[in-house]
Amino acid sequence: MRLPGTRLTVRTATTADRQRLANLIHFEIYVHRHLDWRAPLDWLGQTPYLIAEHGNQLSAALACPPDPPSVAWVRLFAASSSTSAERVWEIIWPKAKADLEAHPELTWVAAIPLSQWFETLIERSGFSLSHHVVMLSWESKTPLPPVPKTLASIRPMVNDDLTEVQKIDQAAFPEVWRNSRECLELAFRQAAIATVAMVDGNLVGYQISTATPMGGHLARLAVLPAEQGKGVGASLVYNLLTGFIQRGAQSVTVNTQQDNHASLKLYAKAGFHFTGEIYPVYQQHLEH
Ligand SMILES: CC(C)(COP(=O)(O)OP(=O)(O)OC[C@H]1O[C@@H](n2cnc3c(N)ncnc32)[C@H](O)[C@@H]1OP(=O)(O)O)[C@@H](O)C(=O)NCCC(=O)NCCS
Repeated sequence: MRLPGTRLTVRTATTADRQRLANLIHFEIYVHRHLDWRAPLDWLGQTPYLIAEHGNQLSAALACPPDPPSVAWVRLFAASSSTSAERVWEIIWPKAKADLEAHPELTWVAAIPLSQWFETLIERSGFSLSHHVVMLSWESKTPLPPVPKTLASIRPMVNDDLTEVQKIDQAAFPEVWRNSRECLELAFRQAAIATVAMVDGNLVGYQISTATPMGGHLARLAVLPAEQGKGVGASLVYNLLTGFIQRGAQSVTVNTQQDNHASLKLYAKAGFHFTGEIYPVYQQHLEH
């Protein structure tokens, strides 16, 4: 697609663009990357994944394929310093949005801007600030919380648990924070400690944590709504903290929504404290 009044051409990226995309992502300054289980290049082949070119020169890339089907996170926006990030965004975003509107199941497009320049761009394009995500940290010098009283038993997650894990994820999280089955599989494969909580032989909760240079990061935690408030979440957290202590971790981090009172209370009781890092979450409702 040749754009009127410009010499920029926008088209869907292909695997043949991989090396040029890698250079754009690694060497340019104006790069927004989603905090993701996949690297930006791993989304190649899914749509929309658009690139803007000026002749043979790659000017920008924008990837926001839906996953799960109702939510499209902006996974990547990168602009070359040879162009204006603002100008190329104004050309490439409407094309991506038109592609997204063709997905009937899609409700939200969302982004977590980590830089002011990207926040400004999306604010001008109809995204609204929805809420914030805060970062908390637990230090291994903090005494472990008292063992929670619960009927749940905790065991390592296995591949066959993923169907039930996804059901819990769907039931427990608000729409925009749900993970697809594929995403949960990726998370499970990258986990340092992944566990499930069982009550009467039924899977009622899960957590997935990854290794970090300082210890660990609790990436996913959810309890079936009917089983919440019975100490299951606290048991999962206690168990993973014990696991990370055994591995010599110095700290364990977690992110949660600033208005998620249940998780904030749970983390505070477990000894987590706010690090001061806070990230805005922007959303745009898509009309079909
Ligand atoms: C957060 C979550 C995992 C907590 O699991 P849980 O099994 O209900 O937690 P627990 O029963 O172990 O409760 C731990 C503490 O949090 C408190 N808590 C639990 N639900 C609460 C709620 N809705 N409001 C306020 N406090 C709550 C409990 O009161 C308890 O403190 P207490 O012992 O002083 O009573 C669960 O609410 C959930 O799955 N939420 C949706 C997914 C989510 O937000 N995950 C975390 C994202 S990082």
